[in-house]
Amino acid sequence: MSKLKVAVIGCGSITIHRHAPEYASNPNVEIVAFVDPVQERAEKLVAKYGGKAYTDHNEMLKAEKPDAVSVCTPNALHAPISIDAADAGAHVLCEKPMAVSADEAQAMIEAAKKNGVYLMIGHNQRYMPPHVKAKEILKSGKMGKVLTFRTSFGHPGPEGWSIEGKGGWFFQKNKAFVGAMGDLGVHKADLIRWLLDDEAVEVGAFVGTLHKEDTDVDDNANCILRMKSGAIGSLVASWTYYRGEDNSTVLWCENGVMKIGTHPEDQVIVELRNGTVEKYQVGGISTNEKQLSSGVIDAFVESILTKTPPSVSGEEGAKSLAVILAAMESQDRNTIVKVKA
Ligand SMILES: NC(=O)c1ccc[n+]([C@@H]2O[C@H](COP(=O)([O-])OP(=O)(O)OC[C@H]3O[C@@H](n4cnc5c(N)ncnc54)[C@H](O)[C@@H]3O)[C@@H](O)[C@H]2O)c1
Repeated sequence: MSKLKVAVIGCGSITIHRHAPEYASNPNVEIVAFVDPVQERAEKLVAKYGGKAYTDHNEMLKAEKPDAVSVCTPNALHAPISIDAADAGAHVLCEKPMAVSADEAQAMIEAAKKNGVYLMIGHNQRYMPPHVKAKEILKSGKMGKVLTFRTSFGHPGPEGWSIEGKGGWFFQKNKAFVGAMGDLGVHKADLIRWLLDDEAVEVGAFVGTLHKEDTDVDDNANCILRMKSGAIGSLVASWTYYRGEDNSTVLWCENGVMKIGTHPEDQVIVELRNGTVEKYQVGGISTNEKQLSSGVIDAFVESILTKTPPSVSGEEGAKSLAVILAAMESQDRNTIVKVKA
């Protein structure tokens, strides 16, 4: 079987830590190109993983005709670049948040359909072992219905992560469109939809810039969600957890409570109303400091090779984005907002 020709567009931190090494270690992939307007960023990855360096994605698409691309650029470029790639006949794995508006997300979905290619969104929380275990337990029915929850994702901010550092694109609204809410909140919106097999129907949110300077995006968001099932819960995203990352979710259910990511060794803890306590050591949650394989890249490759539509499709990405858009609207209008399905 010939190898899948893959190009990576955007050569910053997520490519350095995840997309490049994970494609490189997949035996079915040949990396043909890295693209970044800052040429040395692309060249550095070419030196390590092979392929050719480009500064313009359209030039690369024309010259290399890749089978698939990863789009790892600032958020505002996700939609236009993904659409260009789909129009060039490439399957697309786009980082989250997939777009900056519902219309853009729809246009990406339509471009993929029109060109007969897959569109997958990098919602890697679904692949983290504690979340996979939690989903398995919920599916078994032993917890009963989820009644209420809180899910939180915070870290000290992208200045310590992004290749552009302090003041980079993450902090500029015209490139990022939202701050912590879009960067981390969208991960938890996606996680809670997937874990509960449910949809958020109403959102109320307080979103603010509490501590970061020289930025026009938010650094903290606190949201309440009402789900289609009736469950209510809170979703928190923060860039000011300066003492370290928190990526935890607690589900209070009819038959007990499930704690995910609240303990360093016991990543999933189930405490049932009958007094039983179950502790699962299934492997950690990836953090900025401790990067574990995302699983997303292998899933994308597998989906193309087996001609099976990706489970984290463009439609799924759009639904998770809709929760964030509703939260931003709630903050702007100072009212509870219905999520536009
Ligand atoms: N799934 C996750 O857990 C996760 C984690 C971090 C970041 N991300 C997402 O990945 C994307 C990239 O984030 P990052 O952390 O790598 O950012 P980064 O700042 O480290 O790197 C972004 C890179 O994109 C390049 N770029 C800008 N315009 C470009 C263009 N037109 N063509 C090609 N490259 C271009 C920049 O020069 C820079 O090198 C963002 O959408 C972010 O939200 C996802």
